[in-house]
Amino acid sequence: MSSKLLVFGRGMSMKIAYYGSCILLSVLILLSCSGIARAQDSTLARTPPMGWNSWNHFACEVSDAVVRAQADAVVTSGMKSVGYVYILIDDCWQGTRDAAGYIRPNAKFPDMKALADYVHSKGLKIGIYSSPGPKSCGGYTGSYGHEEQDAQTYAAWGMDYLKYDLCSYDGMGDQVAAYKKMGDALKKTGRTIVYALCQYGMQKGWQWAASVGGNLWRTDDDIRDDYYVMSELGFGQNGLEQFAGPGHWNDPDMLEIGNGGMTADEYRTHMSLWCILAAPLITGNNLAAMDAGTRALLTNPEVIAIDQDPLGIQGHRIKQEGPLEVWMKPLKDGSTAVGLFNRGWGAMPVTVDFRDVGLGNSAVVRDLWAKKDLGPFQEKYTATVPQHGVVMLQIKRGT
Ligand code: GLA
Repeated sequence: MSSKLLVFGRGMSMKIAYYGSCILLSVLILLSCSGIARAQDSTLARTPPMGWNSWNHFACEVSDAVVRAQADAVVTSGMKSVGYVYILIDDCWQGTRDAAGYIRPNAKFPDMKALADYVHSKGLKIGIYSSPGPKSCGGYTGSYGHEEQDAQTYAAWGMDYLKYDLCSYDGMGDQVAAYKKMGDALKKTGRTIVYALCQYGMQKGWQWAASVGGNLWRTDDDIRDDYYVMSELGFGQNGLEQFAGPGHWNDPDMLEIGNGGMTADEYRTHMSLWCILAAPLITGNNLAAMDAGTRALLTNPEVIAIDQDPLGIQGHRIKQEGPLEVWMKPLKDGSTAVGLFNRGWGAMPVTVDFRDVGLGNSAVVRDLWAKKDLGPFQEKYTATVPQHGVVMLQIKRGT
């Protein structure tokens, strides 16, 4: 090309450059419209995925009937309307492989395609679970040696999400390669499938999970319905914020809200912290038997908006004094979400200094759980925070 340009002279070379760039642009537009250019669907998981997963409450009691009832409840409880759309089947659905090696569900799931159709008919999405090892964590059939076949099967059933749990693959070989194998297999199906890695943060998963196609990845061990386990996981995310962003999220594990092991203040801490962390909001309770208090914690639109903010910045800690912590998350509209946390015993005052969140001297404060504007304040704002509780604020620059 360059030698021809020399012969044609400057005018001709400009024309070639002009028409060349037009052709290149058209090809790019065509490719992106047709989806051929998709490496990892760029519209997938632009905000942290929201939904329900069977494991925390139902474990191996999950069944077709349970999943249908939870899908119904997501709609009737109002959860769908605030963003919870993924209905995720965790471990214990797998049966055996047929003669050709295709995985079949066990007797609790008579027809996976019909179940997916049912969930889709409610305007929801559905997900499934497997392992790169020969066995899942619960001892059910894993995808080892059948990765492409399994990905094709999930796509044929209409699955929109896969949680891929290390389990028996641990010690068997190169984890990164194993997760890439399934990531590639999912892409090859041509179906848009959220890819959730679950390898408990081993080998600093946050550093490579997105490169193998991951949209979210667990950063630590399993959550339990216990304040100390939940808070170790949640507050322990500090420092991982650089790895999260639209399409790729750190996952401190699913929510335990409503399962009965924590107080209302502790569950409020759980929800607030996960939202400040831009963590996936995957509920793990029985939505069909949820009380009003649980529903209020899970469906506060202003709190959820912090999690789902389009900037997709994971929040971080800005101050710690013993058991008292202040966390912040910058938001698209220029305001800042702030969590005042008390991890200690008894109510205590916690203060946010506006300069620490880049807001100057004067700021306007709203309490997101109380749904109340608290007014303008100078320099700082102090709230009394209950034991193991939180006060969650949205702060805007004052005029
Ligand atoms: C692991 C995962 C859990 C759950 C179980 C299922 O422990 O971390 O989230 O999927 O396996 O067996």
